[in-house]
Amino acid sequence: SYPDYVKLVEVGPRDGLQNEKSQVPTEVKVELVNRLAAAGFANVEAGSFVSPKWVPQMADSAAVMGAIERRQGTIYSVLTPNMKGFEAAVEAGADEVLIFGAASEAFSQKNINCSIAESIERFAPVARAAHDAGIRLRGSISCSLGCPYQGEVAPEAVVDVARRYLDLGCVEVDVADTIGVGTPRQTAAVMAAVARVVPVERIAGHFHDTYGQSLANIVAAMQVGVAIFHASVAGLGGCPYAKGATGNVATEDVLYMLHGMGIRTGVDLDAVVGIGLWISQRIGRRNESRAGNALAAR
Ligand code: HMG
Ligand code: MG
Repeated sequence: SYPDYVKLVEVGPRDGLQNEKSQVPTEVKVELVNRLAAAGFANVEAGSFVSPKWVPQMADSAAVMGAIERRQGTIYSVLTPNMKGFEAAVEAGADEVLIFGAASEAFSQKNINCSIAESIERFAPVARAAHDAGIRLRGSISCSLGCPYQGEVAPEAVVDVARRYLDLGCVEVDVADTIGVGTPRQTAAVMAAVARVVPVERIAGHFHDTYGQSLANIVAAMQVGVAIFHASVAGLGGCPYAKGATGNVATEDVLYMLHGMGIRTGVDLDAVVGIGLWISQRIGRRNESRAGNALAAR
């Protein structure tokens, strides 16, 4: 069976843009966030408070957060790997902060420069501070379906991090296929394993579409009860520390599929198609959404 409603987290302004080589103007990011919120997303990932040396494209996240309109009913979230990032996020008025670790040691080192165990130690004060400030805490697990450096990742490694996140007070746990290698049976198995420690309504699927498996993986995840998914308008994006990784699954494709299946999202597909065309053109990228391009040509 399938859920009646799926919550979509639009990650284009963060995951979609963080890998862009040339600096996207702040006002374009602001317009992107505003237009996405207006299209009806329950959650928009608006920026990232990480080291500007590591991810220069996200250096203006405070300016973006300061300039956006706040739509009632939309949660604006940002990435915070440590207390420095958390303090900046509070200052910027973030509704939700995201700690991001990995199920693979090698990826953890490349992405956040520490081991998995060290990352949990760094996240602990962030989690406490978020709790005290009444800010939602979300936790992401990279390489849940495979790692660019170590290959296969055991479901138990994903479950271990998920359990830590739950202990830290995460309201949602994101099972991320950073390099898009997972296939549906594997996805269902990992989601089911995580669901043994995290209530299934608090698990999210974050799929990069490198191997074209994302939609199938979303269906597989829904069949085990997952009803939160991340997507990026026009399929923007990629991860700077995952060679060859492409963007997230395109939001338009996910919306087309879910609405076609009679599953509500609260998001206006036509509006998102327009946003996808606009942002692709604005940053000189091909629109990677199949549904977006097809609907635009109609
Ligand atoms: P580090 O070098 O180990 O940390 O980096 P540090 O504490 O030693 O700090 C080094 C320098 O960074 C210092 O500056 C700090 O002030 C500064 P310096 O003294 O050299 O001038 N710094 C910061 N500046 C601004 N904001 C901060 C911050 N923290 C330290 N929050 C660190 C550790 C985690 C900071 C670094 O590795 C980093 O920023 N990594 C970011 C990696 C990243 O953003 N990756 C992409 C996002 S994750 C992702 O895309 C995956 C996801 O989509 C799921 C999936 O698909 O898998 C979520
Ligand atoms: Mg990602």
